Amino acid sequence: MPKDTLTITDNRTGKQYEIAIEHGAIRTADLRDIKISADDFGLMGYDPAFTNTASCKSRITFIDGDRGILRYRGYPIEELAAHSNYLETAYLIVKGELPDVARFEMWRNNITVHTFIHENVKLFMDGFRYDAHPMGMLVSTIGALSTFYPEAKHVEDIENRRLQTRRLIGKLPTLAAFAYRRTKGLPYIYPENELSYTGNFLQMLFKMGERVYHPNPVLERALDVLFILHADHEQNCSTNAVRSVGSSRVDPYSAVAAGVAALYGPLHGGANEAVIRMLHEIGSVDKVPAAIKDFKAGKGRLMGFGHRVYRNYDPRGKIIKELAYEVFEVAGKNPLIDIALELERIALQDDYFVSRKLYPNVDFYSGIIYQAMGFPLTMFPVLFAIPRVSGWLAQWAEMVRDPEQKISRPRQLYVGEGTRRWVPIEQRAEPVEREEAVSTLI
Ligand code: CMC
Repeated sequence: MPKDTLTITDNRTGKQYEIAIEHGAIRTADLRDIKISADDFGLMGYDPAFTNTASCKSRITFIDGDRGILRYRGYPIEELAAHSNYLETAYLIVKGELPDVARFEMWRNNITVHTFIHENVKLFMDGFRYDAHPMGMLVSTIGALSTFYPEAKHVEDIENRRLQTRRLIGKLPTLAAFAYRRTKGLPYIYPENELSYTGNFLQMLFKMGERVYHPNPVLERALDVLFILHADHEQNCSTNAVRSVGSSRVDPYSAVAAGVAALYGPLHGGANEAVIRMLHEIGSVDKVPAAIKDFKAGKGRLMGFGHRVYRNYDPRGKIIKELAYEVFEVAGKNPLIDIALELERIALQDDYFVSRKLYPNVDFYSGIIYQAMGFPLTMFPVLFAIPRVSGWLAQWAEMVRDPEQKISRPRQLYVGEGTRRWVPIEQRAEPVEREEAVSTLI
């Protein structure tokens, strides 16, 4: 009779242990019973970068990386991208169900009443230098919001969590647009709550002298779809940062600021920006084979390719590639698309990429659309952060509610020196020797 257990023989002692398997995983805490002596700490799992360790049970997002499947709360991303809108998807992610008409109206109202930000936030924005990266501004101003809403620290209170969630989803586009206007030296534009979530964002970004700004419906819809695609992606680097920082029971503004900081990195949300820089560097379609050769030789990476989870085409990448042509109809073709298509064509036939299962990810084509829509490169990760806030907050709330969760605190395998005796400074090793030892560390 098959059992959902794992039997382990410890060859150091000859002892056998039976460990439960649940949801295709063992609890690494169960390994602690495996000891060579009574005072032994017990066996641990070693998994740098969590490549094979589940840190939580989650009901929010499902990914099957081998088959290229992504679902939010059970709904395939393709269906949501085709029929839903970002605000509805955010409701689904945060609350677990699609809203009916009345609930959606209430949600829309509850978000839009929070789109304005305290006037002092404009002063923070003004304090940044003219060339400050908007992600740096976003990290700081989101963190600063915690000082405006001190009650946000009561994370155990569900009503309070709901309020901060609505506030953050409502305010993110305003902070992002103000950061953009700051970099351009343009006056800040206040929210226009009659417009859709993305329509309002576009007017806060691009409104100039006109009395009423009418967002282009194709671009408004394209941005909405991009927001749907970026709303959540289970335990990625930034979500893990939000959960981990939030596990100390800090307020959600501080936890989300940590998520934005994680997203800023070029291997995560900064990748779409890096893709455009790479495409510019390659310069033309005929240079693509040489560029591919360089990537294979380890000279840089083909940005926008590869994913920790997807070993197949990222389903979001497919949708974005099609969306690009709709945007080009209105905004004009971005010539970088030709270089990108050629990179994809060659890479998908090349054994280096095929054998490593490296396919285009969400960032490969998203930057091309953002650029065609008129966004500067530095805004690309910001455009990722705005919709991801709904995912971060859903994950944060799930973590706070989960009785199995505690403050996040990984173990380490200490491999450093044993006990050493302090010696007076003049008696320490010769400077050259010391220099060599020290210079490798940082
Ligand atoms: N170009 C060339 N080689 C690559 C690439 C790439 N983009 N990605 C992975 N490889 C190679 C890597 O050198 C390694 O080869 P080998 O086994 O010979 O050492 C192998 O593929 C496995 O790579 P890895 O770094 O162990 O894979 P990972 O799962 O740790 O990293 C990744 C995933 C996304 C960080 C990585 O694929 C990468 O750096 N891609 C480029 C950056 C990028 O597009 N990031 C956006 C990710 S999707 C959106 C998001 O999460 O924000």
